[in-house]
This record gives sequence, C-alpha cells and structure tokens, in this order.
Amino acid sequence: MKSSITQGVKLLATGSAVPDLCISNELISNIVDTSDEWIFNRTGIKERRVLSGSTSLIDIAALASTNALNKAGISALDIDLIILATSTPNDLFGSASQLQAKIGASKALAFDITAACSGFVIAMVTAAQFIQNASYSNVLVVGADVLSNWTNWSDRRTCILFGDGAGAAILQSCSISNNNLLGFHLNTNGRKFDQLNIQYEYSNTDGNFFSPGLKGNFNYITMNGKEVYKFAVSKVPQSIQYCLDSLNLSVEHIDWLLLHQANERILNAVSSRLMIPSEKVISNLAKYGNTSAASIPLALNEAIEDSRIQSGDLLVMSGFGAGLTWGTLVFRWNP
Ligand code: COA
Repeated sequence: MKSSITQGVKLLATGSAVPDLCISNELISNIVDTSDEWIFNRTGIKERRVLSGSTSLIDIAALASTNALNKAGISALDIDLIILATSTPNDLFGSASQLQAKIGASKALAFDITAACSGFVIAMVTAAQFIQNASYSNVLVVGADVLSNWTNWSDRRTCILFGDGAGAAILQSCSISNNNLLGFHLNTNGRKFDQLNIQYEYSNTDGNFFSPGLKGNFNYITMNGKEVYKFAVSKVPQSIQYCLDSLNLSVEHIDWLLLHQANERILNAVSSRLMIPSEKVISNLAKYGNTSAASIPLALNEAIEDSRIQSGDLLVMSGFGAGLTWGTLVFRWNP
C-alpha cells in the first residue's frame, strides 16, 4: 500500500516489563498431564510470567512505557499519540486511555488496536502513518497482553504456551532522508478466524431482550495448533520475502530477524526457509512463552539493552496469529 510521506520516522527508544510471578514447566506439569521435556522440545518454552494479585495490564504497560520514555529522554507530556496493541483489555471500550492517564501523557490521543500477536507490528505501522503524514511527532506504541486471563489451565494443548508481558517503543518524526521505517506488508485471512480465538458465546436467554445481566461470556483461548503452525511457517516467510523484494533488499542485508515469539520450531522453520542463520534470530521464548502483542517489543528491548542490536543494524520483524493476521515491518535501528 502506498501513502504520501512528508516526514521520516525513527525509533527513539524501547522499554519492557513483565510480572514477577514465574510459572515453570514443572509447575504446569503438576496441573495438567505434561512434562518439561515435552513442552521444551515442542515449543522451546521453559517458563512464563503471569500477572497476579492486583497488578493489571495497565500497570505493566505503564512500566514498559516509562522505561522507554526515560531512555528516550522525553516527557510523557511530549507524546502526541498512544497506540496500545492488546487483545486482553481491562475495559472492552479500550484500555489505552487508562494508560494515558497512568503515565500522565495528558496531551496524547490514545486508542487500542486489537490484532492479537500481530498487534505490535500493526500498531507500529499505524503509528508510522500518523508521523509520515505529519499529523503527529512523538508516538508511544505499546504491545501488552495478559493472556493468562483467558487461558484454560486444564487444557494442556494451550496452557503451556502463553504468558503475560508488555513492551513499548517510541517513534519520532525526522527528515525523510533519515527515515528508518523502510517498508511493511500486512495481511488478514478472516476465513480462518476460528483456528485461534477467544469467542464470545451467547447464553440461552429467556427471550426478554431487556432482561438484566450478561447475555453471554467470552470463552477461553481455543486453538488448532497444527493449522496455526502450518499457517505461520508458510505465510511469514512469504511476507518477509515480499517486503524485502519491494525494498530491493535481500536476506543477506538482514542483521536481525525478530519474529513473534510463538514457538522455537516456528522461528527455526521460518529462518531456515529464508536461509537466515540462527545467530541472526532473536529468541527469548524460553523465559516468557508467547506473550502475544508484547512478544516482539519485549524481545526487541532485551536485544537493544544487551547491545546485540547495534546502531545501523537492519531488522525485520514479523507478527502472526489470531485473525488470522500476519505482517512484516523492516526498519533500521539508528536512534
Ligand atoms: N503435553 C503432553 N502431550 C501433549 C501436550 C502437552 N502439553 N499437548 C498435546 N499433547 C499430545 C496430544 O494430545 C497428542 O497426543 P496423541 O498423539 O496421543 O493424540 C500429541 O501430544 C501430539 O499433539 P499435537 O497437537 O499433534 O502436537 P504438535 O506437535 O502439533 O504440538 C503445539 C502442539 C501446540 C506445540 C504445536 O502445534 C504448535 O506450536 N502450534 C502453533 C501454536 C502457536 O504458536 N500458536 C500461537 C500462534 S500466535
């Protein structure tokens, strides 16, 4: 998709936060019929963080945001727009406004994007549009999810996979010649929405439309693991290749491949299809599992903090998941 660009975009800083409570594979194997060996061999996951007590999605999203703001050296009052990618809001009308209030970004417009594990990539692309057409200068993009709220802890096919977390990125306008968000490619196949979803189920009503109380409930996460796996390993490499081709780049130009952290086997399959060596693949799955919209910014922030990602490096990030939706963003880290 082409758009009129009058400004460039650069990624200024990142931040992240995870809950303190750590749930190991061993602990899960006390709840359902599984084992550390099975989980690690099939997924690469060893443990995950889970929100507990009164800590909320907003708390970890705010921590990740202030972490990024501090590194960027700008105030929350400088933020023009907040985009919160989450599929687990604590308010169905949207949670971004609570984040805006919590960090004191009182001048910012704030809204949510719901796109599950593709949410962060889509939010980054959305933020870039507002900057590139000169509507806003400083945008805070947050990916945060609390999938533990929707996990069926008696379903061993899904409860082993997910964890909670938050990651943030601050994008800022710059001259077009310094633009660092080079290209993107986004897709949805809604015909397969039921392969991975949290469905709203209507309960039987008594026929009285105005009867008080809930008319239904959201279900737990349901997933066709094999189909989702096949979807990811076929569509994500295509999306990356499409993006690279459109920019006249080749896989050799990639310094880091940052995929949504769903499963180590998906990371391996995608990178080997593209012939990207494993040393260039960022993975923190073992520590956090699949944190949905948080997974890419969480891994990005860790790799920047420990200096794996160096100034000038070219990154390809791809999100994929429920929708089914998938997308790729190519950018240069040049803060
Ligand atoms: N522990 C032990 N055994 C398990 C298990 C668990 N946690 N979960 C499933 N099994 C069993 C199954 O019951 C099945 O047993 P059976 O052969 O006796 O019927 C066997 O293991 C194989 O199950 P299957 O579902 O075929 O395993 P798989 O190799 O496809 O691995 C996933 C399951 C979920 C790890 C894998 O499909 C996957 O990662 N898919 C992608 C999921 C994903 O990333 N989703 C998020 C995308 S954003």
